Amino acid sequence: MKERDEDGFVNCYADANRADAYATLEFANTYYLAYRDLPGILAAHVSGTRALDFGCGPGRSTRLLRKLGFEVTGVDVSEDMLRVARGVDPSGDYRLVPDDNFDELKAGTFDLVLSAFTFDNIPGALKVRIFRDLGKLLTPNGTIVSIVSSPKIYLHEWASFSTKDFAENASARSGDVVRIIVTDHHDGRPVEDIVWTDESYRAVYREAGLQPIQVLEPLATGDEPYAWVNETKIAPWVIYVLRRAA
Ligand SMILES: C[S@@+](CC[C@H](N)C(=O)[O-])C[C@H]1O[C@@H](n2cnc3c(N)ncnc32)[C@H](O)[C@@H]1O
Repeated sequence: MKERDEDGFVNCYADANRADAYATLEFANTYYLAYRDLPGILAAHVSGTRALDFGCGPGRSTRLLRKLGFEVTGVDVSEDMLRVARGVDPSGDYRLVPDDNFDELKAGTFDLVLSAFTFDNIPGALKVRIFRDLGKLLTPNGTIVSIVSSPKIYLHEWASFSTKDFAENASARSGDVVRIIVTDHHDGRPVEDIVWTDESYRAVYREAGLQPIQVLEPLATGDEPYAWVNETKIAPWVIYVLRRAA
């Protein structure tokens, strides 16, 4: 387990048991909605095939990008996660980035930076610095796609998550720690995330020299083969498509 950082926040994914449990997740249930629109978003906004998967975890998002034809480098701060990613996908490129130091990645070379749920676990004070550094890795026309949890995910029940034991989530403000349990895998320990509003994300993007060119909040249609709880009426995720500001 990682030590507490200067904000006192622990990345609960830096944990061998969590990594093994997380590796069993695929693209079903509530997670389906995070990834469903990704192929279309990438086709519309990304030219080129060089991609960075920032916060790749056990590699679910990295392998998806590889299947879509991208040449991907997956990076994470958790060695436990990377160990699992390399085990599942031995030919993949998975690297540790201690303290989010991207010096070993070449600036200006990535057509796409995908970040799937990573910023849910990054304290506010670090978000600007990391987004700015990710922006520097992009080619001039490069795109960042950041999938994050909506603040609403922490207030309701879902096909993949439960929050009913955490009534205190309702009074959390942007930057506060919130709790949520993933019900799709065997690790029943609550995940601790940092709730971050749309307004706060937009302020971070401005400061990091990025601009949103599309913002999506995917809803289920009701025709999918999943036992939806709130997913047809409340969007659990927000997807930001970002470019460097002119
Ligand atoms: C919820 S998992 C998502 C994994 C993967 N992107 C997916 O879609 O399945 C979030 C990952 O972000 C990583 N992470 C958290 N803080 C990070 C940071 N500052 N830099 C890089 N990775 C980070 C965690 O270790 C964890 O593996």
